[in-house]
Amino acid sequence: MITAFSSFCVLCSVLNFWSLKKTGQLISLDLGENNLSGCIPTWVGEKLSNMKILRLRSNSFSGHIPNEICQMSRLQVLDLAKNNLSGNIPSCFRNLSAMTLVNRSTYPRIYSQAPNNTRYSSVSGIVSVLLWLKGRGDEYRNILGLVTSIDLSSNKLLGEIPREITDLNGLNFLNLSHNQLIGPIPEGIGNMGSLQCIDFSRNQLSGEIPPTISNLSFLSMLDVSYNHLKGNIPTGTQLQTFDASSFIGNNLCGPPLPINCSSNGKTHSYEGSHGHGVNWFFVSATIGFVVGLWIVIAPLLICRSWRHAYFHFLDHVWFKLQSFSSYSITV
Ligand SMILES: *[C@@H]1O[C@H](CO)[C@@H](O)[C@H](O)[C@H]1NC(C)=O
Ligand SMILES: *[C@@H]1O[C@H](CO)[C@@H](O)[C@H](O)[C@H]1NC(C)=O
Ligand SMILES: *[C@@H]1O[C@H](CO)[C@@H](O)[C@H](O)[C@H]1NC(C)=O
Ligand SMILES: *[C@@H]1O[C@H](CO)[C@@H](O)[C@H](O)[C@H]1NC(C)=O
Ligand SMILES: *[C@@H]1O[C@H](CO)[C@@H](O)[C@H](O)[C@H]1NC(C)=O
Ligand SMILES: *[C@@H]1O[C@H](CO)[C@@H](O)[C@H](O)[C@H]1NC(C)=O
Ligand SMILES: *[C@@H]1O[C@H](CO)[C@@H](O)[C@H](O)[C@H]1NC(C)=O
Ligand SMILES: *[C@@H]1O[C@H](CO)[C@@H](O)[C@H](O)[C@H]1NC(C)=O
Repeated sequence: MITAFSSFCVLCSVLNFWSLKKTGQLISLDLGENNLSGCIPTWVGEKLSNMKILRLRSNSFSGHIPNEICQMSRLQVLDLAKNNLSGNIPSCFRNLSAMTLVNRSTYPRIYSQAPNNTRYSSVSGIVSVLLWLKGRGDEYRNILGLVTSIDLSSNKLLGEIPREITDLNGLNFLNLSHNQLIGPIPEGIGNMGSLQCIDFSRNQLSGEIPPTISNLSFLSMLDVSYNHLKGNIPTGTQLQTFDASSFIGNNLCGPPLPINCSSNGKTHSYEGSHGHGVNWFFVSATIGFVVGLWIVIAPLLICRSWRHAYFHFLDHVWFKLQSFSSYSITV
C-alpha cells in the first residue's frame, strides 16, 4: 500500500503513476489526501486489474471517470470522493464483478477488522478501517464481513444515476452525495440487496422514492436529503426508523417527516400529469380583475374633477334606480 504521497505538481504525479504502472500485482492503491491533479489515467484499469482497493480521495483529479476502471473486476473499494470529477457515472460499473453477489465466493475477500462495537456508520469510516488491512481477509479473526464500497461524493458528476449500477447486488456502501445528479433513483435499487448505506443527498434527483427500496433489509442508513424528490416515503419498513433529516429538503411526505400525506401526497402525485398545479385561468382572471378595477379607481384618486363628476353621476344613477324601484313596486 502506498500512502503519504506528497506531490503537488502534475508531472510528479504522472511520473509516480508511471512507476506504479509496472506493478501489476498491486492489490491496493491509496493516494488519498494529496494534491494530485489532472485526469485519472486510463491505464489504471488496464494495468492494475488485480486491484481490490483504489482510493484517490481528496485530490484535485478532474475530467471524466475513465471507463477503463470497469475492467478492475476484483475491485471492492472505489473511493474517488472529493475531487473535481465531471461527466456521467459510467454505466459499465456493472462490470465491477467483485461487487456482485455471484462472484463473492470466487474472489479472495477483504475483511475488515474493527473494534467489536464499530458499526459501518460512514464510508469514510470504513476506509480508515481499511487502511490497516492487508489483502487477504482469511488471516483475520474478528471478521465483520466482506466490504464493498463506491464513494463518488463531492465531485461535479452530472446526468442520471445509471440503471446498470443496480446490478451490483454485492455492494454494501454507495455514496453519491454532493454532486449534480438528476433524474430518478433507479427503480431497480431494490435488487441491491447487500446495501447497508446509501447517501444520495445534495443532488438534483427527482421523482418518487422507488417502493422497492423497502426490499433492502440490511439498509441501516439512508440519506436522500436536499434533492427534488416528491410523494410518499415508502411505508412499512425500516425507512420510518431513520431520522427525518434523511428526507428533508424535498417534497416528500409521511413518517418520519411530520407532514401528512393524506392531503399533501395526493396533490403531489397529481402534479405529475397536470403540469405544476397552477390554474392559469384563475390567475389571469384575478389579474384581469385587479387591473380593471385600478383602471377605474386610479383616475378617480388622482383627478379631483373626475371624482366629482363620477360621484355626481352615481348620485344620478342612484336617484333613477330608486324612483324606478318605487315605481315598479307601486305598480
Ligand atoms: C497542497 O497544495 C497547497 C498549495 O497549492 C499547499 O498549501 C498544501 O500544503 C498542499 N497539500 C499537501 C498535502 O501537499
Ligand atoms: C463490460 O463487460 C461487457 C461484457 O461482460 C463487455 O462487453 C464490455 O466491453 C465491458 N465494458 C468495459 C468498459 O469494460
Ligand atoms: C475543476 O475542473 C474545471 C473544469 O472541469 C476547472 O475549470 C476548474 O479549475 C477545476 N477546479 C479545480 C479546483 O481544480
Ligand atoms: C464472475 O467472475 C468470472 C471470472 O472469474 C466472470 O467471467 C463472470 O462474468 C463474473 N460474473 C459476474 C456476474 O460478474
Ligand atoms: C471486544 O470484545 C472483547 C471480548 O470479545 C472484550 O473484552 C472487549 O472489551 C471488547 N471491546 C470493545 C471496545 O467493546
Ligand atoms: C458521503 O460523502 C459526504 C461528502 O464526501 C460525506 O459528508 C458523508 O458523510 C458521506 N456519507 C456517508 C454515509 O458516509
Ligand atoms: C420488492 O418490492 C416490491 C414492491 O415493494 C415487491 O413487489 C417485490 O416482490 C419485492 N421483491 C423482493 C425480491 O422482495
Ligand atoms: C394528519 O392526519 C390526521 C388524520 O389522518 C389528523 O388527525 C392530523 O391532525 C393531521 N396532522 C396534520 C399536521 O395535518
